[in-house]
Amino acid sequence: MLKLILLSTAIFFSAFAQDNPCPTTQWKYDETSNSCFLPSKHHSTFTDATTYCSGFNSTLVVIHSQQIETAVNTIVYYEDSRSVWWIGLQRSSPQGNFTWVDGTPLNYTDWQSGQPSNTLGANCVGVFLKSGLTGGWQNVPCVQQQPFICFIPNAVALPTSNPKLCPPGTYQGPSGSIQSPNYPANYPNNADCYYLITVAAGYKVNITIVSFRTEYCCDWAYIHDGNAESSPYLASLRGVVPAGTSYKSTGQFMLVHFTSDESTNDTGFNMTYTAVAN
Ligand SMILES: *[C@@H]1O[C@H](CO)[C@@H](O)[C@H](O)[C@H]1NC(C)=O
Ligand SMILES: *[C@@H]1O[C@H](CO)[C@@H](O)[C@H](O)[C@H]1NC(C)=O
Ligand SMILES: *[C@@H]1O[C@H](CO)[C@@H](O)[C@H](O)[C@H]1NC(C)=O
Ligand SMILES: *[C@@H]1O[C@H](CO)[C@@H](O)[C@H](O)[C@H]1NC(C)=O
Ligand SMILES: *[C@@H]1O[C@H](CO)[C@@H](O)[C@H](O)[C@H]1NC(C)=O
Ligand SMILES: *[C@@H]1O[C@H](CO)[C@@H](O)[C@H](O)[C@H]1NC(C)=O
Repeated sequence: MLKLILLSTAIFFSAFAQDNPCPTTQWKYDETSNSCFLPSKHHSTFTDATTYCSGFNSTLVVIHSQQIETAVNTIVYYEDSRSVWWIGLQRSSPQGNFTWVDGTPLNYTDWQSGQPSNTLGANCVGVFLKSGLTGGWQNVPCVQQQPFICFIPNAVALPTSNPKLCPPGTYQGPSGSIQSPNYPANYPNNADCYYLITVAAGYKVNITIVSFRTEYCCDWAYIHDGNAESSPYLASLRGVVPAGTSYKSTGQFMLVHFTSDESTNDTGFNMTYTAVAN
C-alpha cells in the first residue's frame, strides 16, 4: 500500500517538477516506468481518442507491465473511478486477436473475470476499477464515449554507454551509489559510461564523493544538472577530488558521464546520492 501511495504522490506532484520530460505540464510523469500519461475526461469514442493522442505524437496507453498498469489505475482512481477508460487495445472483429495500437506484442494482460466477452461490436478495451486501485480490462463497443489516457513510453532517452565496459545506466531514488567500472579496481581504458539518476518528482539529487581518483589529464566525470548531455554542467571532475564534496541538481534528474582515454588508469570513483527536498 505504501508503494501505491508513493507512486500516486509522485504522479500527482509531477506537474510541479522542473524537469518533467513530458510535452506539457498537463502530462503526468511516472519515473518508475519512465513514461508520460495524459488523462482526458473528454468522453470520446475509441477513434476520436486515438486521433486526440496522435496530435501529441502519442498513443492510447499501452500496458506491458504491472508498473504501467498501476500508474494507469492510479490515474483512473483519482480522476474518475466510475468510468471505463480507454486503453490502446482493440480487435478488428469478434474472431480477431486483440492488438496494441502501437503494434507491440500483447505479452501482459489483466482481463476482468468473464472477459473478453464475445458481445457483438465489443472490439475495444477499457480499464475499469472494481474496488480501490484494483481493476481490470473489459471489452466494450468502440463507439461508446469514455475518458481515456494518452501515453508516451521511454520519455527520457538515455545516452548509450559502452555496454561491455559499463555498470548499469539507470538509478532510481531515493538513495544509492554509482561507481566507475571495476571499482575499487582500476577502470578500463576507453570507458564511456552514463549514469542517469532519477528521484521522485519534486525532489533533487544530492550526490557526494566517497572516493575519486582518475588520470588528471584525460579521464573525466561530467556531472549534468538534468537528464541529457546538453543539460548544464554542475562539475567536470578529474584527478583527485576530496571525499565529502557534494553537488545538487535543480530538478529530479542528474546525469553523470565518465570517459577514460586510451592509456593510464586509476581506481576511479564511488559516489553516493540521496533525494533531497530542498
Ligand atoms: C510530432 O513528430 C513530428 C515528427 O517527428 C514533429 O515534426 C512534430 O513537431 C511532432 N508534433 C508534436 C506535437 O510534438
Ligand atoms: C490469433 O492468434 C493465434 C495464436 O497466436 C493465431 O494462431 C491466429 O492465427 C490469430 N488469428 C488471427 C485472426 O490473426
Ligand atoms: C512485452 O513487449 C514489450 C514491447 O516489445 C517489451 O518492451 C516488454 O519488455 C515485453 N514484456 C514482457 C513481460 O515480455
Ligand atoms: C589500465 O592501464 C594499463 C596501462 O595502460 C593497461 O595495461 C590496463 O589494461 C588498463 N586496465 C584496464 C582494466 O583496462
Ligand atoms: C548533500 O550531502 C552532503 C554530504 O552528505 C551534505 O553535507 C549536504 O548537507 C547535503 N545537501 C543537502 C542539500 O541535503
Ligand atoms: C561506495 O561508498 C558507500 C558509502 O561509503 C559504501 O557503502 C559502498 O559500499 C561503496 N561501494 C563500493 C562498490 O565500494
